[in-house]
Parts: sequence; C-alpha cells; structure tokens
Amino acid sequence: MIQRFTFGCPLPTESVVLPVEPAAAVPYLTAEPDGSWSFSLAEDAVVYGLGEMPRGINKRGWHYVTDNTDESRHGENRLSYYGAHNFLLIDGGAGRSVFGVFVDFPGKVFYDIGYTRHDRLTFRTEEPDYDLYILTGDSPNAVCTEFRKLIGHSYIPPKWAFGFAQSRWGYKTAEDVRAIARQYRENELPLDMICLDIDYMQGYADFTVNKERFPDLAALSAELKQQGIRLVPIIDAGVRIDPEDPTCTEGLEKGYFCTKADGTPFVAAVWPGKAYFADFLRPEVRDWFGHRYKVLTDCGIEGFWNDMNEPALFYSPERLRAFLDSMAQLRGQDNIEQEEFFGKVVGGAMGLMNSPADYASFYHDLAGQQVRHDRVHNLYGGSMTRAAGEAFADLRPGRRTLLYSRSSIIGSHRYGGIWLGDNHSSWEQLLANIQMMPSVQMCGFLYTGADLCGFAGDTTPDLALRWLEFGLFTPLMRNHAGAGTREQEYFRFADQLPALREMLRLRYAMLPYLYSEFMKSALENTGYFRPLGFDWPADPEAREVQDQLLLGDGVMLAPVYTQNAAGRHVYLPEPMQLYRLRSAEDYDTEALPAGHHYVHCALNEVLLFVRPGHAVPLAKPAACTAALDEQPIALLACPDADGHAAYRMYTDDGETMDPEHDGHWTVLDASH
Ligand code: NOJ
Repeated sequence: MIQRFTFGCPLPTESVVLPVEPAAAVPYLTAEPDGSWSFSLAEDAVVYGLGEMPRGINKRGWHYVTDNTDESRHGENRLSYYGAHNFLLIDGGAGRSVFGVFVDFPGKVFYDIGYTRHDRLTFRTEEPDYDLYILTGDSPNAVCTEFRKLIGHSYIPPKWAFGFAQSRWGYKTAEDVRAIARQYRENELPLDMICLDIDYMQGYADFTVNKERFPDLAALSAELKQQGIRLVPIIDAGVRIDPEDPTCTEGLEKGYFCTKADGTPFVAAVWPGKAYFADFLRPEVRDWFGHRYKVLTDCGIEGFWNDMNEPALFYSPERLRAFLDSMAQLRGQDNIEQEEFFGKVVGGAMGLMNSPADYASFYHDLAGQQVRHDRVHNLYGGSMTRAAGEAFADLRPGRRTLLYSRSSIIGSHRYGGIWLGDNHSSWEQLLANIQMMPSVQMCGFLYTGADLCGFAGDTTPDLALRWLEFGLFTPLMRNHAGAGTREQEYFRFADQLPALREMLRLRYAMLPYLYSEFMKSALENTGYFRPLGFDWPADPEAREVQDQLLLGDGVMLAPVYTQNAAGRHVYLPEPMQLYRLRSAEDYDTEALPAGHHYVHCALNEVLLFVRPGHAVPLAKPAACTAALDEQPIALLACPDADGHAAYRMYTDDGETMDPEHDGHWTVLDASH
C-alpha cells in the first residue's frame, strides 16, 4: 500500500508517476515540534536506502544530507554525494513492521539515523513544503517493488552497454583512442566501449569536437564500430561562454540560461572557464539542449555520459574577484598568522568551489514560478539527464541510447543510469562500491557502476583484479581514471594480465544471464542487487551482512575486498552451491551447508554462490557483444532437494525500445 501526505505547497519534482490520493494520518512516524519526523529504532532495526551515500548497507549510525555535491574526497565521513535519493526502507526488527519512506522534495533533506541517539531516526526537509509517501508491504522486497511502481520503470540501455567500457581522463587524440582499442584487441581483452572525456571537445565546449585532435569523429566512430567498439563522449552541464559557439549564442538568444536576480545570465567557471547553465527545469530548454546532442548522434554516436551536473561550480567571477582582492591585502607578507593562513588563504580558495552563496544567487523558471536555485538544487542534474533522454526518443526513434549521469534525483532513473563519481583507488572504496549498489538500485537506478580500479590516486594490480571480480557483475562496467594517475587499462598489468583477461571474458560469458536479470528487474520492478536481509528478513545474521549481495533470483556474491586476502568469511542463510571461477571454462564447485564458512578465494578467482533450484547459464566468451553467441555452453546449477534446477531466461534484440513486446522467455532446465 502507498499513502501520500502533502505538507504546505510542494514544488513539482515529477519524481512520481503513480497518482496517489492524499491520506489522513501518517503511520509509524511521529511529528516533532521542530518540523522533523522521528521513529524509534529497536535494537535490531535495520535502515536501508538513501541510494548514493557513504557508509554500509545499513545506514544506521551516521547522519546524511541529500544535497547533490561534486564530492572529490569519498569516504565514510561524508554527508552527501552526487545524488538525491530520499528513500528509506525501515525494517523495524523482530515482530515489527517493514515500511518505506519517500520524501519528495527538491532541496536539502537532513537525516539523523541513530547518529545522535542509537535508538532514534529523525529527518526533516529544509523547507516545510513537500510530499511524504509511506509504503507498506509484507517484506522488504515487496515494499521496494511498491516504491518502484510509484516512481516508474527504470531506464533500459542497449545490450552492448553491458559490455566493458574503458575510459580515462587523458585520451587526448583519435590516435590515443585507436591505441587503446588496438591494445585491448592485441591482448585479447574484450571491449565494447571507449569513453571520451572532455579532451575531445574544442575548448571544453559542449557539442564541439576538436578538429586537430579528432579530425573526423564520424569516421573514427565508424572505424571502431567495425571492431565492435563504440565511442561514448562526455557532455558537461556548463556551457562555455563563447560568441562563436552556437550552444552559447542560441541559448542566450532564446533566454534559456539560468539568471541572476537582475535577470542577467548567471555565470560561473567550470572546465571551459566561464560558463552559462541551461535552465533544464523548463521543458522547452530540455527540448533545445537535448536536441543539441544531434551534433554527435549525427557522427554515429549512440551513448553519452553527463557530467558536472550538480551543477559543480569552480567559482563565480564575483567571488573570485573578492577572494583575489583579499589576497592582495596580504601581498608582501611572508609570515601570516595560522588562523589567517587556514581561514583566509586555504579556506578562502577552497570556499570558492560549489559555494552555497553562488547556489543562492541564481534562479529557475519552474512551471512559471521564479525559484531560487538552492531550493530546487537536487533537480538540476536529473533534469539534464531528462533533457537528453527525452530528445533521444526523437533523435534515435525506436532505438535505445546509452546514457548515464553523475548527478541524479529519483525520477531521473527513468531517463538514464548513473556512475558513482570520483572514488579513489583504495580497498575501502571497493567495499563502498559493493555497499552502494543495492542502495542505488532500490531507488530505481539499475544501470549503475563505479569507476573500476578507482578514479583518483594510483591503483595496484591486485586491487584492479579484485575490483574487476566484483565489477564484472555490475550493469555499468567501466574502468575510468583521473588525469595524472597511474595508467590502469587492464593491459598495463603484465603480471596479472592472464587473470584480468579471464575475468573480462567471464563478464561476457555471464552477459546473457546478467542482461536477463537486469531486464527482469527493470520490467518487474524487482532488485537486481539486494542485501541479504531483503530475502531473509527474519534471519538476524542475514540482516547483519554488509559485504555480500544477492544478484537476481538465484545468485549470491561474496566479493573479496581486502588486500592480500586468500579468502573470506561468508554467511549462507541457506545451503548453496559454490562455484569458484578462474574463468568461464575453469572452475570447481562444492555444495555448502547453511551457516558460516571461511571460503578460500585466490587472487585469480571469483566466488559465485547459486541458490537451490536455480541455474546460471554461461555463454562462450567473446571479444565484444556483437560477437557474442548467447547460447549457453554450461549451466552452473544448484539442484534443490528434488533435484530440480532451472533458469527463466529473458532475451531480446537489445536495441529496440519495446522490450515487453519484443522479449522472449525461455526456461533452461538443469534438473537431474
Ligand atoms: C569529473 C568526473 O567525475 C570525472 O569522471 C571526469 O573524468 C572529470 N570530471 C573530467 O571530465
């Protein structure tokens, strides 16, 4: 059941697609005099949700703010990342209710989940106008499915987007890109996509191509497509200020950029220097900006990533000027007080970026109302995704287009996926990736993945391999690195190359299965990745697990995420068949009883646990999705007590837009 409660006069977010009549009294939660809501947490209560946020699968023990942020220092002490995913699933504990809470609000929402007091959850919106939804059901899975129906079906990418993507902020020329493709192919490493970061643009201006470095993008795209590789260029939120640039001049002419209080366009610097920001909250602006992608779809491009769309702001000219003036007063000094050094110099410079004062200095036109940006901040990135997603229906009719974004809000999951932003090359961030996946998927973002190997800092070959052993299960599977970091394309690690190759090949062997599971969750509003507590809510030990995931109906994963580990502890809520895979062709298997186990897992192995009655098909690995024969060559089965094991497999052409109509279901029987 879904109940809606409206407070004040909420601004429209369009996060929800299902009409829900307003209800009378809010169940479970207590209204506090300060405008917040509270809930008493029993000792064994678990709080899931909040999507892209730090900390474990159980969010209890920390505080969070949904405030879409270009956060370059990921870690457990952060309060916000790039997405606004205001959905909580509260499992009250033994004998108590399970219910969902969705706060439909475009500004900041503050959560204290057992941070101030272990037994108390509170949350409040920054302003008193919002919709609150309470969702109930028999189980965590049932509540999540209710929620997904409320917010509408998730975005479905083309099947080739389930192949592997190589990316780096640093591929500067067509030759660089060709060299990457060549080295992947020479080393027999499967590859479907190469992402283009901002260096392909002319002066970092959207919808331009640097003609010296990429003389013929259409030809390059066609040449690579011959090899089964697609180019996926980046598009940034900030539009370069340049009187020669048509995106800039058209946007200005039509009055499509966000404005300051005096009606002049708001300006802030990002990669291209000073930039304007399209008012994506207006349908006509979305339509215009979305159709600008045509410059690239005309070159044969079929996929994009949208970046910097919180929006990230390096500085506004006003604040930069004020800061430089304040620095000028220090000229000539070589010994300043530490307060002045940290406060004025360091703090002043750092404070230029993503400044709350800048976010409070420009306006949107939301359904005819002038609304200050900070009140609707979290809608911005998702609306950019929406702009592209809506236009693709027109630019590429009947065909699926790959799209994923850095910033998002619930609702934009209908138009694109997300990647998890600028993580860093550390074991801790591999665990964070594992823990974030079910949380973002609960919020509808199914096509998701993190930068494999890590974005910031230098990776190591063993981290690259262990991360790939988890990443090969994530719908978006992309290795991406920051500028200046150690090169981390998989062919760089001679030492681990055979194992890395087998893990990439395993992804392709599993691709028909992973795609089928993805499509089931998209079509049936179920979870692709789920915490163990969702399927065994009455098992206290399953509820406690923070580092194992269920994948679809039949699989459990227990990734190794610590350095130098030869295995790990695994909890099995029921007996399962363990497959220890070194490749799609080389594995051993054993039946494990329910309970606690220490399971060996060498650096070149991945652990796959199959649940009773289920089977996982493996195909013959291929160099790219175009070359993949989806016919199973093996079924990794776990027969139930009666000897039955089967897989309900979904297939379609992976390209067209009507999967419900075009899809085929077959049952693969592995019973004995
Ligand atoms: C920030 C993005 O998060 C990152 O992935 C990208 O490489 C840089 N911007 C440069 O475009």
